[in-house]
Amino acid sequence: MKDRLAEFLNRPLIIGNRTISGRLVLAPMTHLGHIAMRELLAAFGGFGLLFSEMCSAGRIPHENRETSALFRWRDQELPYLVCQIVGSDPATMARAAAKIEAAGFFGIDLNFGCAVAAICSRSSGAALLKQPHLAAAIVKTVRQSVSIPVFVKFRTGWQDCPLAAVDLARRFEAAGADALTFHPRVAPDRRSRPPRWEYIGMVKQAVSIPVFGNGNVFSRADCIRMLALTGCDGIAIGRMAVARPWIFAEWSRGLSVTPRIYGDTALRLSELLPLYFDEIRAVRRFKKFALYFAANFRFGHYLYTRIFRASDMEAIRSILRSFFQTLPELTLRPNMNLFNN
Ligand SMILES: Cc1cc2nc3c(=O)[nH]c(=O)nc-3n(C[C@H](O)[C@H](O)[C@H](O)COP(=O)(O)O)c2cc1C
Repeated sequence: MKDRLAEFLNRPLIIGNRTISGRLVLAPMTHLGHIAMRELLAAFGGFGLLFSEMCSAGRIPHENRETSALFRWRDQELPYLVCQIVGSDPATMARAAAKIEAAGFFGIDLNFGCAVAAICSRSSGAALLKQPHLAAAIVKTVRQSVSIPVFVKFRTGWQDCPLAAVDLARRFEAAGADALTFHPRVAPDRRSRPPRWEYIGMVKQAVSIPVFGNGNVFSRADCIRMLALTGCDGIAIGRMAVARPWIFAEWSRGLSVTPRIYGDTALRLSELLPLYFDEIRAVRRFKKFALYFAANFRFGHYLYTRIFRASDMEAIRSILRSFFQTLPELTLRPNMNLFNN
């Protein structure tokens, strides 16, 4: 039987002056979408783009890729890697964008969605949704300073009003954005309430640039439903791509998944992290990953708690080996107690 979902997901998509080979992308995630995780994802493939962790625009001009924990990449991933930046000053954002372009990234993503207090108190991230003129000025200034694709990732706003999101989307397009990633939740919302997917359809209708829908796509069925309901051009997957890094390959390439993939993949990440981070940072990042990975299993809490208490990577590896000695029972949907962190 023809896999219609895979057929759609493998359709090329034009973004600005470039084309991507697939419609599924990795959403930007701090402390999860790092260089080691991206190497893990790249080995499976099946995505159109990967988005980096959020980088401070003010810091980028001073960052050294050899020593930075965030502004870091492998040369092989540059053709499909988008660097996300956060900030509130148009000139600072443009300077960072110019360095990102010079480094050879596929594109730049402007973070207008982060609702963390430390970011919003500096008028950055989702705080910019309260200042649409400034947000549009950032898009325009960045657009004028680079020729690579400029993406904007944003949320509904600070009130549950889809018309405000539609207005923002139009402003971003008019200011020169090449694509939008829309996460239809209000800014103060963590991830507990479901996102309003119908708003993605409204944003898609309002602009002619590609729109990536985002939020709570956990299964093939979710993916099909979001595409059908909203007509979006692609989907940005966050937590589920961390929990199952092969998900892009599974949905778009028909990768057949065996139960062994879980243990093998977690062990592989435990090998990759120390190649790029010192022991403390590597262990911290593995623990962050473990929260989402453990959500796959019926006894995920048990696995997560043991990993959380581990003092080093070797201890983590032996916990993994013992947990995966017998094949653990999977949950149908991820365990939300772990996932909603
Ligand atoms: C731990 C974590 C860190 C995140 N960091 C960022 C970030 O730095 N920039 C950003 O735009 N979104 C960030 N997000 C939001 C995700 O990109 C995405 O919008 C959200 O997780 C919903 O998608 P999902 O349901 O597929 O996970 C983060 C999400 C999580 C869970």
